Amino acid sequence: MKDNKVQIFDTTLRDGEQVPGCKLDTTEKLIIAERLDLLGVDIIEAGFPVSSPGDFKSVEEIAKIVKNATVCGLTRAVKKDIEVAAEALKHARIPRIHTGIGTSDSHIKYKFKTSQEEVIRRGKEAVAYAKNFVDDVEFYAEDAGRTDNAFLAKVCEEVIKSGATVLNIPDTTGYCLPEEYGAKIKYLKDNVKGIENVIISCHCHNDLGLATANSIAGAINGARQIECTINGIGERAGNTALEEVVMILKQHPYLNLETDINAKLLYDTSRMVSEKMGMFVQPNKAIVGANAFAHSSGIHQDGVIKNRETYEIMDPEDVGVTESAIVLTARSGRAALAYRAKKIGYELTKVQLDSAYQSFLQYADKQKEVIDNDLHLIMKEVNKTSKIAMA
Ligand code: KIV
Ligand code: ZN
Repeated sequence: MKDNKVQIFDTTLRDGEQVPGCKLDTTEKLIIAERLDLLGVDIIEAGFPVSSPGDFKSVEEIAKIVKNATVCGLTRAVKKDIEVAAEALKHARIPRIHTGIGTSDSHIKYKFKTSQEEVIRRGKEAVAYAKNFVDDVEFYAEDAGRTDNAFLAKVCEEVIKSGATVLNIPDTTGYCLPEEYGAKIKYLKDNVKGIENVIISCHCHNDLGLATANSIAGAINGARQIECTINGIGERAGNTALEEVVMILKQHPYLNLETDINAKLLYDTSRMVSEKMGMFVQPNKAIVGANAFAHSSGIHQDGVIKNRETYEIMDPEDVGVTESAIVLTARSGRAALAYRAKKIGYELTKVQLDSAYQSFLQYADKQKEVIDNDLHLIMKEVNKTSKIAMA
């Protein structure tokens, strides 16, 4: 693997599917898994096989059909979970078991009611046990975001000795600041013996809206895997959004970090996941929201019509959106009206445009958006006094 390659670990079908109301059946999961494989993700976390017979079956079927990506199953640090995951993954071309345990004081004290030593022992035992079934074992230190760095380093060092190939450092509660999360990854890189032989993974939740920023900070500080979901769906406020991470790395080439994602499939994939999960994408969602490439104020529209780069930092076609949208509202100017009129066939003179603009404002003040049907009516009126040339 190239030093600057950041692997994309997609957990839409596991962490994403934990969202209430997002339940998918096996057929829907297979369709999404196939699309993720086509998109170019490196790892597909297909589910948590011990959690239900349905999830087991989904992981098993996904493992059979995925052609390129590693297929991963989640477990707790529990032997039975690991055995069931191994069984579900047995047809995978490249299987991975993702096992782990909570490492923060609150998880140790309240969830497990145990000691740090016991957590290390259970973590090591789980990794060693998983190694009996697969070569590729990822260890997660749940709530690593709130885990003391020195203890976290100790846990990491011990599970590496047991054979972990990937170390997942989840900010499970979405608490960290980007600087803090980046420093955590750097601390591990500098203080864990054997870390150079494993991949560090970022798994960030979005409780404070920082999941993507934290993941990028992690990658800048040496992580080479980012765990994310399409549209950022996931528990509570969600996970890191795959489309955001991919486009940040693409639009900032000086970071010298790359993914193998075919970005032109991002928009379509977002729509597909949204539709299958019944999870609406907020219009102002970065990269894939309906308004991500829409311009409605006169000043912006005029700029974009003259040169797209005045108000856009990426080409919509790069993420599979056919073109930027010039939305006509009461804030739009003549340039936008002429542009949209031309799109539907009318070539307006300056005088015609002035006249059309006056009736346009009347429509625009009454409704949120002026659509093509309204434009035809406006042009019909103008045509009565001055014949419009067809574009
Ligand atoms: O957020 C988290 O800590 C997780 C782990 C189970 C990887 O989803
Ligand atoms: Zn998570």
